[in-house]
Amino acid sequence: MMDVGRHPKIELLTYSEIENVTGYIGNFHVNVRKKARYVDEDACTACEKCAEVCPVVAFDEHQLGLASRKAIYIPFPQSVPASYLINMEDCLGTNPIACGKCLEVCDPKCIDYDEKDSIIELDVGVIIVATGMDVIDPTVLDEYHYTEFENVMTSWEFEILTGPGYVTGSELLRPTDRKVPKSIGFIQCVGSRDDKRGHPYCSNICCMNTVKDTLYLKEHYPDMECYVYYMDIRTFGKQYEDLYKRSKEMGVRYIRGIPGDVEEDPETKNVIVAVENTTTGKLEHHELDMLVLSVGVEPRVETADIQKILTLSKAPDGFLAESHYQLNPIDSPTGGIFLAGCCESPKDVKGSVTQASGAAARAERLLSQRRVKVEAITSEIDPDLCTSCGICVKVCPYKAIRIEKKKAPAEVIEAACKGCGTCAAECKFGAITMKHFTDDQILSMIDAMLEEKPEEKICTFACNWCSYAGADLAGLSRIQYPPNARIIRTMCSGRVDEKFIWYAFQKGAPVVLVSGCHFVDCHYIDANRWTQKRIEKIWDKLEQKGIRPERLQLEWCSAAEAKRWQSIMRAAENLRKTVSKQEIEETIRILSNGDKPKTKAKAEAKGKKKPKVTAASSE
Ligand code: FES
Repeated sequence: MMDVGRHPKIELLTYSEIENVTGYIGNFHVNVRKKARYVDEDACTACEKCAEVCPVVAFDEHQLGLASRKAIYIPFPQSVPASYLINMEDCLGTNPIACGKCLEVCDPKCIDYDEKDSIIELDVGVIIVATGMDVIDPTVLDEYHYTEFENVMTSWEFEILTGPGYVTGSELLRPTDRKVPKSIGFIQCVGSRDDKRGHPYCSNICCMNTVKDTLYLKEHYPDMECYVYYMDIRTFGKQYEDLYKRSKEMGVRYIRGIPGDVEEDPETKNVIVAVENTTTGKLEHHELDMLVLSVGVEPRVETADIQKILTLSKAPDGFLAESHYQLNPIDSPTGGIFLAGCCESPKDVKGSVTQASGAAARAERLLSQRRVKVEAITSEIDPDLCTSCGICVKVCPYKAIRIEKKKAPAEVIEAACKGCGTCAAECKFGAITMKHFTDDQILSMIDAMLEEKPEEKICTFACNWCSYAGADLAGLSRIQYPPNARIIRTMCSGRVDEKFIWYAFQKGAPVVLVSGCHFVDCHYIDANRWTQKRIEKIWDKLEQKGIRPERLQLEWCSAAEAKRWQSIMRAAENLRKTVSKQEIEETIRILSNGDKPKTKAKAEAKGKKKPKVTAASSE
């Protein structure tokens, strides 16, 4: 942090928040709110005189309330800049000034009670998100009586108690009697791998953090009894297994079993732990001076705001999703934005440093090239057909479409467009063309598919990244699915236009299946949510027209779910068998004469600028 603060080419904006980000790769415009510190950070010499005279005693957030601070304070010992700031909510009031003692003693006169927040505007080419993580709150289920027993604490609090910045100067003292504890226990996986708390994942860092803590304890207090209660110890990193072995050799008892019951001796305030040792099959009771809950980690609450501001994607565990978790683990789905550290998944220091170095290198590569390769499948807007309705702007997951002035046609920012096709599918005026996935191309594929014996076909639209790959995997793995399935690949299920579905039914399709990635897996952030909304509307319309809605199926299938693909297709085939020839003929009769919907190309060919026939009227 100090190195960053001193680096001539890094401008560090501390005590600041991102308010808004507009633009796209290479051209981001960022508004940053720099909060008022009420102390000139350049003039402050951190002489401490102000804090000495400040009469306020407040909760020290950095020390989790285990210590106090003043209203004027340095947030934490290594903070950069090492200058004071005033928390105005704690301050005794400046209007009128009720105290003003800090101002009186400040020799460099760097205190300004009237300072206001300022907005800094930045133009940047790339953005690296490194917003970190939070620890899981153990009070939610409180099965270990964390809120009740004073000698039960979290691993984070243990870190504070034994850290050099704490009042005891890193000597571990038991909270109830301020004596060095003789025995201590650690319970692993508190909050992690726990569906009940909504954290089914492994937090990655807790096992090694506990191993490190036990080594610290055994080095400083060799006679202290240490117990670690665990499900399984995960020592995945380089030389981690050696540390684990060293901890065991130093006398730490690792007990495979998570305590079922924790009680407190009302007189001694000792914590009594009952645990079934699953290695020996015996129930053990341990009376401990202190118990540490090795809490897992979770995404920060602010992650949702950052996700929204930067149009990022969230993984099912709530952490920010990378573009591809194996092949592109540093890029976010939005061009020019990279992820580093625990905002992406729980990581230790080494993992965070590695990813941060990768993110810096990715950013540097992009900046030094000074140009980006755009997708070949971006969308294109015909200004003559565009009515500036703004739907495309609303549905674009990348904010890649803009309408600069009222009534001006929409414009695609090609560098930001990824080609999901949601805009084209939602445009009611046929004004948007997806390069290489045009309406005419897809309608022609439907024609070819249903040219012969349409009643025997399952008309399937599958997204490139998950469902199509799932079907591919099924083929490669020789997992058989009905051979009458015919698949049209689109980049995203969001590209499946309503008119494709109506046209397939008009051409005699007994069943139409639209398939895409599971919600959080969509490679175009949330484009498949629009697919869902669109299909739901079509189901309603089918019902109104007296066509069985179940003949249109919507399924989510990932690239790894070959078996699922097989069962989806088998179910579609069973459904197809229930659709009689008469039912198909009746559908065709209801849906007009089976003409191809008029697309932009056709309208132009006929010299019409604005086709009156749209998806809705082609039904
Ligand atoms: Fe598969 Fe969007 S990429 S549904």
